[in-house]
Amino acid sequence: MRKVRFVEPAKVYRMIKEELDAAYFDVMSKGDLIDRGHLRSFEENLARFVGTKYAVGLNSGYDALHMSLRAAGIGAGDEVIVPAHTFVATCSAVVNVNATPVLVDVATDFNIDPDKIEAAITPRTRAIIAVHLSGYMADMPRIMKIAENHALVVIEDACQSLGSSIDGRMAGTFGLTGCWSFYPFKILGGYGDGGAITTDDPDVAIFARRMRYNGEDRETGEYHGHGFTCLLDNLQAAFLDVKLRHLPAGIERRKAVAEMYRRGLSDIPDLLLPHYDKPGFDHVYQNYTLRAKQGNEFSEYLKKNGIEVLTQFRKPYYKHQALNLVDRGFPETEALSREVCSLPMNVELTDEEIDYVIRTVRSFYGLA
Ligand SMILES: Cc1ncc(COP(=O)(O)O)c(C=O)c1O
Repeated sequence: MRKVRFVEPAKVYRMIKEELDAAYFDVMSKGDLIDRGHLRSFEENLARFVGTKYAVGLNSGYDALHMSLRAAGIGAGDEVIVPAHTFVATCSAVVNVNATPVLVDVATDFNIDPDKIEAAITPRTRAIIAVHLSGYMADMPRIMKIAENHALVVIEDACQSLGSSIDGRMAGTFGLTGCWSFYPFKILGGYGDGGAITTDDPDVAIFARRMRYNGEDRETGEYHGHGFTCLLDNLQAAFLDVKLRHLPAGIERRKAVAEMYRRGLSDIPDLLLPHYDKPGFDHVYQNYTLRAKQGNEFSEYLKKNGIEVLTQFRKPYYKHQALNLVDRGFPETEALSREVCSLPMNVELTDEEIDYVIRTVRSFYGLA
């Protein structure tokens, strides 16, 4: 049977092998492992790409969220608004600084519903974490306005949306920080865990630089607080610097794949495809996440036919008992959780594979 993989890291390696091998050789032959030139180069290039003054390489997207909350001084007694539909790390970062997450439902684009934010604001609310899911940004102009009206900090969890923008303004340039993940299957994926924050605030950049290295100022040796060990490795940074050069072309390819899916599937009434009509919002399709009325029946059919799909998440994170979160009722999150299905979306897919996915989806609905 034909197989279409969700991602194929070995294939990407073969596509840019010479550059990755050269980066590896450079790092290994110099013995530059911790906080060296490759990290600085990647940070400069990332900041330039996003359009912020600073980028600070960290060990993961989770660390980026964690450092951002700490830099904003958020802690015990504070409430932070987070979407009910996101990867759990968005919420865990809040809990782990001893603040209280207050969940807000999402809209049909999978992102936090701006119409529902104000009802969740209390005198203890300090921040909103806006998550840009799948490559498509939350409504930042509206969220920034709400935050301004209530004097709230905004942190952008942009872990799934590097390169996305609204009216040409990039993800990660609206809030106090943009938080990035370079987990292998992200749009800019490394070869292990990795992350970063971007910011225009020099104090936040200095704070994160110190705290990622156990609170130490590397130049003076002074400890500026109890910190963490969450530095982006120099070798990982060297690989990411290579892959960042290929990101703009990769985004173009993703958009072309999305367009093929749109043309092949948009006549099927039981599918809700991720093509939205908000003017100025640019979707970079880290994921091609659709909703299928038939839920598991649909996703299982694709899997049975050799197509790897993701169904994140059939069980919303706030329904996991051990997380101890308040479920205030989130109808859109509940509805999408039953129907969500991400089709293969990556730069290594061939046109033939995309065609096979389209034909298989159509055959599920009895269409040619
Ligand atoms: C929306 C979102 N937030 C946070 C994270 C956490 O990133 P990481 O896995 O690098 O810690 C991820 C990715 O895994 C994510 O998709």
